[in-house]
Amino acid sequence: MVKKLHLLCACSLAAAMCFSSAYADNVIRVGTEATYAPFEFMDDEAKPQGYDIDIITAIGEAMGYEVQVQNMPFDGLIPALMTSQIDAVIAAMTITPERAQRVDFSEPYYKSGLSVLIREADKDKYTSLESLKGQPLCAQIGTTGAMKADELSGGNAKSFNTEPEAFMELKAGGCEGVVNDRPVNLYYLATAASEGVVEMSEMITAEDYGIAVAKGNTEMKQVIDEGLKKIRENGTFAKIHQKWFSVAE
Ligand code: ARG
Repeated sequence: MVKKLHLLCACSLAAAMCFSSAYADNVIRVGTEATYAPFEFMDDEAKPQGYDIDIITAIGEAMGYEVQVQNMPFDGLIPALMTSQIDAVIAAMTITPERAQRVDFSEPYYKSGLSVLIREADKDKYTSLESLKGQPLCAQIGTTGAMKADELSGGNAKSFNTEPEAFMELKAGGCEGVVNDRPVNLYYLATAASEGVVEMSEMITAEDYGIAVAKGNTEMKQVIDEGLKKIRENGTFAKIHQKWFSVAE
């Protein structure tokens, strides 16, 4: 009997250690890359803000977890999950088959897709995706936009750590287009910084964002999916959408 009890203890200890933070102090450590307004960006006090931050915070609240957001490079997010430095990633991250081999995703929470920004002065020169063939294109490193930029430009793409750097490079004439998520392009176009930049009318892809957890961390996936369901049902999700996009979902 005593032996059995010991065994039981050892097992539950091991299980608790695997995903310790989720259970130890009811904290979810969340990674993001906060140069991606309106989804995630740093405010004047260097605090992460945005649609994704509100969504994950609401999920935490609904499920009784405190959410701690950490900012890191986009291409470091999945490695950080895989090495248990964080419990979840919310970073406008597209659910792709390649990523799904390395991490597990929550239910989709946002419908997105890629578009291309070009300089206004070039708008008669680049009238279709076809016309961009072989041209140098900019994107953020490790993103679906970077993959598409590589494909469209025939390997002539430049990657940057942050999206604002890619936008700046376009304005400076260092590349002919930026391939990036459309909602982020539209947000940028609404700011003064984007003067002289326009969006090509052709939308390239349709993508779904998901919240990533470590492969096999079914507990955390469940917490997130259940939280998502709850905030959809209690109207919080719709409110957050309205707040950041000024339209209903
Ligand atoms: N949706 C694109 C992707 O998953 C871009 C995401 C970039 N996110 C960010 N926080 N910088 O590859």
